[in-house]
Amino acid sequence: MKTTNNKPIVLITAGPTREAIDPVRFISNHSSGKMGYAIAGAFLDKGFEVILVSGPVNISLSHTSLRVIPVNSADEMYTACQKYFPVAQITIFAAAVADYKPAQVYTQKMKKSAHEFSLQMVKNVDIAFEFGKIKRNDQVSVGFALETNDEEQNALKKLYSKNLDLIVLNSVKDEAATFGYDTNKITIINRDFQFQAFPLKSKAEVAVDIVTAAIKVGQKQEQAVQA
Ligand code: PMT
Repeated sequence: MKTTNNKPIVLITAGPTREAIDPVRFISNHSSGKMGYAIAGAFLDKGFEVILVSGPVNISLSHTSLRVIPVNSADEMYTACQKYFPVAQITIFAAAVADYKPAQVYTQKMKKSAHEFSLQMVKNVDIAFEFGKIKRNDQVSVGFALETNDEEQNALKKLYSKNLDLIVLNSVKDEAATFGYDTNKITIINRDFQFQAFPLKSKAEVAVDIVTAAIKVGQKQEQAVQA
């Protein structure tokens, strides 16, 4: 799938989502967006047109050609991606999307009253899962698995249940990896159960490894179509 300027399109989700409780409070996570933005930079360097759907982050853009669509919630992230997924050759789900959101968003700031307070949560849309249902065989999807335990088993489950081509496993147990760091330690797993483990590297270098692996899957798909 090409754009009018003939560049292949990559869609990337990055950063956290924020799920509103009331006008002044939200539920979120520690994602800084660094991993997703590094992947965006690596794809730009490879000549792709990059659409980056980004949760709230504090990153100044080094590439002027990067097209960033800012969003807050998982629902907003999903809606923004729906426009671009059909035209994307490669999609990378690097965002840390909140799995749950408050069942009700209060329109007024909630007042302090009782000693205890509980919040009812409902499941959020699983963006990678939804696009997995409509992915064509000329598209490449790469997800992340952020794990604390049973890493490989959980990553494989996500690879298949979300119909991904590759899953990038990263663990919060590894030092200087995942949330907020400038470095990450990943294992890329494909659907043939091949595991490619990398040492701790800068997120810029990790991004190049991910981009290289995703492009390779795309090339294999093209060869299979031509054969
Ligand atoms: O942003 P940084 O500070 O640089 O940190 C990088 C990172 C740790 C956020 C990144 O490397 C990472 O692991 N991102 C995915 C985090 C995550 O939500 O993983 P998960 O195992 O819960 O989700 C599995 C996959 O489904 C992910 O590709 C995720 O983007 C996607 N997902 C999950 C839930 C949901 N509702 N929608 C989704 O699309």
